[in-house]
Amino acid sequence: MLRTPLINVMTSAAQKAARGLTRDFGEVEHLQVSKKGPADFVSTADKKAEAVLFEELQKARPKYGFLMEERGEIEGSDTSNRWIIDPLDGTTNFLHGIPQFAISIALERDGQIFAAVVYNPVTDEMFAAEKGQGAFLGGRRMRVSARRDMAQSLFSTGIPFLGRENHELFISQLSSVMAVSAGVRRFGAASLDLAWVAAGRYEGFWEQNLQPWDMAAGMLLVTEAGGFVSDLAGGRDMLSRGDVAAGNDAMHQALLKTLRAAKAG
Ligand code: IPD
Ligand code: CA
Ligand code: CA
Repeated sequence: MLRTPLINVMTSAAQKAARGLTRDFGEVEHLQVSKKGPADFVSTADKKAEAVLFEELQKARPKYGFLMEERGEIEGSDTSNRWIIDPLDGTTNFLHGIPQFAISIALERDGQIFAAVVYNPVTDEMFAAEKGQGAFLGGRRMRVSARRDMAQSLFSTGIPFLGRENHELFISQLSSVMAVSAGVRRFGAASLDLAWVAAGRYEGFWEQNLQPWDMAAGMLLVTEAGGFVSDLAGGRDMLSRGDVAAGNDAMHQALLKTLRAAKAG
């Protein structure tokens, strides 16, 4: 287990928020659900989890700022440090009783992601990383997959849905990747998709139209596990562009190449 003061603060906040989420997941049918936009629901569980995370992290580091999915941006007096939080990544899964969702917490320090925790309360898998300290799944150090052949590689992605753009482009990307790989999965929580690349379960992941809180923590998990992360143009603007490709060195490059060809076609 990665045990730095920062990671301790982040994991205990995640565990505390997870208790409420787990309870609510058990009663998912009875949740009060309000409509946020087309096919995009936010549950009371989501807001309660965010409130717990905010309270715990603010208690531990009172000067840090926040960027949260529900409450938005809250500036801190320490402008170098900002928490980027998704209290419930995989809302649609959660509302459908599918046990693939997570709490995602990243600490951005001087514009770079410095620490990350992604926690799936159902499987009790705690993914954690701090810059320069490696990435861990519980007590085990994570390494990205060593597979270097696309034909044997498994990829993960996010399928755009009602209210999201670029359906046509996605179909063309999917058709390019599925034709040359061992398969493509869509599990519905981007933070876990990236964590699973870090854990070597997937060789690569890509998605478009994401928000910073969907990917900030997962990106550091991948790089600290020895992998590579970029935007779809191969640059470093993942958080501002909202698109991301990740993988081991070979599959990250191969994935970018395949996706670029799809765009052209
Ligand atoms: C969503 C999940 C999903 C991704 C969507 C995100 P939410 O986050 O990460 O995998 O495909 O684009 O919006 O809404 O469940 O927090
Ligand atoms: Ca999310
Ligand atoms: Ca969310």
